[in-house]
Amino acid sequence: MLRETLTALTARSVPGARSAGLVSELAGIRGRHRRQRAAWQAHLQHSKECITAHLYQADQSEPILLMGAGLGLDVPLAALNAHPAGALLVDAVETLSLRWRLRRFANIRFERMDVTGFLKDYAAAKHGAALVPPAIAPLPLVGHGMAISCNMLSQLPLAFTSSPPLDADETTLAATIQKAHIRALMLMDCPVLLITDHERLEVRDGHTSRITTVDPKFLPGDPLETWDWHVAPAGEVAPGLDVTLKVGAWLLGAYC
Ligand SMILES: C[S@@+](CC[C@H](N)C(=O)[O-])C[C@H]1O[C@@H](n2cnc3c(N)ncnc32)[C@H](O)[C@@H]1O
Repeated sequence: MLRETLTALTARSVPGARSAGLVSELAGIRGRHRRQRAAWQAHLQHSKECITAHLYQADQSEPILLMGAGLGLDVPLAALNAHPAGALLVDAVETLSLRWRLRRFANIRFERMDVTGFLKDYAAAKHGAALVPPAIAPLPLVGHGMAISCNMLSQLPLAFTSSPPLDADETTLAATIQKAHIRALMLMDCPVLLITDHERLEVRDGHTSRITTVDPKFLPGDPLETWDWHVAPAGEVAPGLDVTLKVGAWLLGAYC
């Protein structure tokens, strides 16, 4: 708990991120990772290996862009550091722990960035005001050798809606935010690796509920790979409730 409080207190963030709960969410992820290190290990390793295995697709003369760096738990820092043009990690929240880890990697920079382009306006709007997020997320479309959206797509609506969305308006807003991210990824002039969970399996008393976290219609065809993230073994969220996320990796715009 103390570590989570310190993570939240020492984090820096883009305007609107703290009031939207992103700082406390990332502090919470740090706590959950400490408690569930063994259960998360396979997912974190799989994400790192998947990214590392596709870095050969990147233009060597331009940096890799990795979005959703968070705490860097699923980010292969040494492999990104070895890319000749280096790497730029971005996230709405910059934690002290990642800042310290990056001191060992001279070829990696970190920048705070809101990949939805909506956090600041949302925070400034009066509660309930009608606001429309960008239809195409304001991502940098040129200048990178490869882009990676790293375990963040399902999380993007959480700053603006309940999870799962409470009503039709929230469902529409969540879909708009996710579609805007995917549209921008598709417009990038480099290979793009999208890693995201798309379904949440909740098991209680032998009964399984399936909750969509990213509509399959939004996803760009068949995934390259899929795997499970045992995100909350029984007891983490509630007694007797076990939660697993179905994760996939998609490659867009790669040179064959
Ligand atoms: C599940 S975490 C990804 C895990 C992360 N790669 C790690 O290893 O800690 C989702 C990340 O998306 C970031 N995020 C959520 N909304 C964002 C936004 N609008 N702009 C940029 N980053 C955002 C969160 O701060 C968080 O770090």
